[in-house]
Amino acid sequence: MSLPILTTDASLLTLTNVARVYHTRRGLLGGSVDVRAVDGISFTVMPGQTLGIVGESGCGKSTTGRLALGLEQPTEGHVTFEGAPMPPAGTAAWRDLRRRMQLVFQDTLGAMDRRLSIAEQVAEPLDIHGIGDKSERADRVAALLRDVGLRPDQAIRYPHELSGGQRQRAVLARALATDPALLVCDEPVSALDVSIQAQVVNMLTDLQAARGIAMVFISHDLKVVRQVSHRVAVMYLGRIVEEGDPDELFADPIHPYTRALVSAIPVPGPRLLPRIVLTGDPPNPADRPAGCAFHPRCPVAVPACRVETPALRKLDDRRSVACHLASTNSRIAV
Ligand SMILES: Nc1ncnc2c1ncn2[C@@H]1O[C@H](COP(=O)(O)OP(=O)(O)O)[C@@H](O)[C@H]1O
Ligand SMILES: [Mg+2]
Repeated sequence: MSLPILTTDASLLTLTNVARVYHTRRGLLGGSVDVRAVDGISFTVMPGQTLGIVGESGCGKSTTGRLALGLEQPTEGHVTFEGAPMPPAGTAAWRDLRRRMQLVFQDTLGAMDRRLSIAEQVAEPLDIHGIGDKSERADRVAALLRDVGLRPDQAIRYPHELSGGQRQRAVLARALATDPALLVCDEPVSALDVSIQAQVVNMLTDLQAARGIAMVFISHDLKVVRQVSHRVAVMYLGRIVEEGDPDELFADPIHPYTRALVSAIPVPGPRLLPRIVLTGDPPNPADRPAGCAFHPRCPVAVPACRVETPALRKLDDRRSVACHLASTNSRIAV
């Protein structure tokens, strides 16, 4: 069990020892299997700050994002938003809260109604939440589209008539329409060309700073996460294995898994870290290894790692690591 992180009154979003278990069937005749998609995580997001979440596919990032928005109920632990428990999805209290927290994900066409023009899509949440009168809404839609860099002639187009990057801008305009305090962005630029990614990410961080929006920014792309985040959490098989300041964490990763991820980032010139290639089976949450879930792939595992699950411990004010071998004085030689 990871220790609960102390929250201050000022925190916007807090997850405390949150787990999410899915019951799935294995094959036609197989019995049901419990998948601990998220396995006891705690974090706090402060207003206006971005928490980046990185990790391989299947490690529980999207589930964490849905838990943070109340779209998914925790099996264990609890989620608070603006100091109050997250109301269950679908209730009037939760619907009311939805204008304060929005989700942006990778699939822009799936996020939009193909029958509505871009301007109509952006106006929709204003209608739903009864914000402004007709002319105020029109002004607000125009301002939002301008803010995300879309032209008035693009506002009258339909989703399939825009490029992926333009559609993601429109999705963002709609997410921003209700003045949210929190945006959960789940791989928001992963489907876009690299050159377009940078533009959309820059626009997103500019708007976030100007409006003081907090973000949970989920991506498997460490470079993007480093660029946008105030804090970074690295996930492995449903748990946070390392958390800290992005520059420090990427310059001096401590957990062997983080070291492997960072060593794989393509960089020009000589590497700071030798390339660490992970061996062993890719992680499978339906068949989680005992002890530290990373131990079968860990180049420095000791016998204790097979038995005891390491808690996420603070090494100093700026870094937490879940590894038996991590300590402030002796960084792990991998
Ligand atoms: N609705 C669901 N039902 C059953 N299993 C799920 C469900 N959603 C996610 N999972 C499983 O939980 C694990 C974590 O998934 P996810 O949160 O989507 O990871 P990520 O976003 O990091 O790729 C995966 O093994 C996935 O198959
Ligand atoms: Mg995902």
